[in-house]
Amino acid sequence: MAYENIRLEKDGPIAVLTVDRPKALNALNSATFHEMDDAIRSLKDDTRALIVTGGGDKAFVAGADIAEMVTITAAQAREFSALGHHVFQSLENLPIPTIAAVNGFALGGGLELALGCDLIYASEKAKLGLPEVTLGVIPGFGGTQRLTRLVGRSRAKELLFTADRIDAARAKEIGLVLDVVPADKLMEHCRAVAARILKNGPLAVAQAKRVVEYGADQDLRSANELERQGFAVLFGSEDQREGMAAFLAKRPAAFQGK
Ligand code: CAA
Repeated sequence: MAYENIRLEKDGPIAVLTVDRPKALNALNSATFHEMDDAIRSLKDDTRALIVTGGGDKAFVAGADIAEMVTITAAQAREFSALGHHVFQSLENLPIPTIAAVNGFALGGGLELALGCDLIYASEKAKLGLPEVTLGVIPGFGGTQRLTRLVGRSRAKELLFTADRIDAARAKEIGLVLDVVPADKLMEHCRAVAARILKNGPLAVAQAKRVVEYGADQDLRSANELERQGFAVLFGSEDQREGMAAFLAKRPAAFQGK
């Protein structure tokens, strides 16, 4: 599939997905979602980390495309919401870490995209928020739920109700972004985090992601059972033998992802 609204670039084991409609501040319309869906599906086993960012120098993603939504019906809105949910859920389902490089405005659906990633880093010029109530709607791509789980109900409600646009430093203070870095160092920072992850056993990283994601929705007892299963299953892997043998032999592990 040829892409018009996104770019997917491979840099060794790291893929970079750039939402690239800078004239509309990378707003997410249906066509963009379909391209993102295709790009996510197209990732092969040799991709071991995915960085998501925005094209141009102003925005990560400034939200769902308001021009596309202005006249849609409730039924179409439900469909559009389901499409966004599907794409962000598929980021969560990927067995590799996903990293949001928030390089500018991350508003509405843009913040929801970042929230669908495992790790969120922001440039000093990033501005984040959920302005949907200013448009007479609420977030429709998981923002009400993922933000609440990340920063707690009270902070989430504050952002949802006020539509405040917060800067990167404040976003870090409330636990919404992990780190704030100078704009020209953001991609380097995200690649460096990915590189640290890539040194580790890929099956173990995938299990860690899986048990955190599935466990977060469950009671502690069930979630800990998931962890026990994930732990046990890794003992059927060559990577576990290699990782532990390498430790005992005082050499770096050569993981195969098997
Ligand atoms: N949808 C469609 N177009 C958008 C857009 C969006 N979300 N955000 C920006 N654009 C377009 C603008 O219409 C403008 O287009 P034209 O040049 O053709 O007029 C272009 O991008 C540049 O934007 P501005 O001129 O507004 O740039 P600015 O620097 O003055 O302001 C901004 C930047 C504060 C981010 C402002 O563009 C803005 O407030 N954007 C909308 C943010 C928003 O409300 N997002 C939530 C959308 S709703 C949503 O996401 C719902 C959901 O969860 C499903």
